[in-house]
Amino acid sequence: MSDLVFLGIESSCDDTAAAVVTGDGRILSSVVAGQNSLHADFGGVVPEIAARAHAERLDGVVEQALAEAGKDLSDLDGVAVTAGPGLIGGVMAGVMMAKGLVAGTGLPLVGVNHLAGHALTPRLTDGIGFPYVMLLVSGGHCQFLRVEGPEDFTRLGGTIDDAPGEAFDKLARLLGLPQPGGPSVEAEAAEGDASRFDLPRPLLDRPGFDMSFSGLKTAALRQRDELVAAQGGLYQRDRADLCAGFQAAVSDLLAGKAARVLKASPAPVLAVAGGVAANRTIRAALEKVSNDAGARFLAPPLALCTDNGAMIAWAGIERFRQGAADDLSLAARPRWPL
Ligand code: KG4
Ligand code: ZN
Repeated sequence: MSDLVFLGIESSCDDTAAAVVTGDGRILSSVVAGQNSLHADFGGVVPEIAARAHAERLDGVVEQALAEAGKDLSDLDGVAVTAGPGLIGGVMAGVMMAKGLVAGTGLPLVGVNHLAGHALTPRLTDGIGFPYVMLLVSGGHCQFLRVEGPEDFTRLGGTIDDAPGEAFDKLARLLGLPQPGGPSVEAEAAEGDASRFDLPRPLLDRPGFDMSFSGLKTAALRQRDELVAAQGGLYQRDRADLCAGFQAAVSDLLAGKAARVLKASPAPVLAVAGGVAANRTIRAALEKVSNDAGARFLAPPLALCTDNGAMIAWAGIERFRQGAADDLSLAARPRWPL
């Protein structure tokens, strides 16, 4: 079935994306229209603005993905769409778009869990087999998954409060750095001294695989406030040191728990996905614990780690091969644990 060609549609957060992918893992096109500038003034994604932007852009993004792949609807074997979890207005816009396409063509429709899309990406990029351990770490998610099959995911643990990307974004806001915060904090941290501030590593030494990041954020905020009270403001050096300390703490937390996971649930591969996986300090720390555990470390190219349509098309192909398909009653689900 390597000749399958699927269109994938993603609109569950702030990226409107579509892609055409083949059953043998070729990405014929992948179009992502981001919305950072639309939400920039609000300090976070505004659901209503996101939903409207998805509704406006989906047509054009799908058309572009098909054109770049050199395909017509009649060349497709199916349409896969994110059916959740995510911001409901955006998910509904994508599901409606997909239903419109299949209603007109009779193509199979496959609803995809967004998290499964991320979790199956290493099979698209590197053709790895099962099982493997996945760390999904983004602005909205942070969890360890054991992946045993295309629809066989076990959640081993995850954050009990904020996602790390969200924490990076909040820290950036507190320090007056541009959004998205992760890349700005990483750039500042490159000049900083990670040991200057004593920041906590919540839950790190506790048993289990759960993580917590909100206490870390609060501790960083307290350090900032103390500096501002003492010196009337922040110097460049202070910003860099706080960013470096914060990044080191997140890295220790993720790598420490990853080591624990690989020990309790050995697997040949530790894979990462999500925007935070772009962070070089975090990647290096995860690579080290993987090597120490005798596992291969796998980080897909960044464009496939963050939200995209190719992972949805691919997860749709994987589900379709399992015999799964949906009909026009497919519902958008704001919550949908794996
Ligand atoms: O996966 P993603 O594009 O979207 C979702 O959250 O679903 O992840 C975006 C998050 C943002 O919070 C952003 O600040 C973070 O990933 N991020 C980073 C880096 N690049 C992006 N965090 C740390 N270091 C980075 N280099
Ligand atoms: Zn995502």
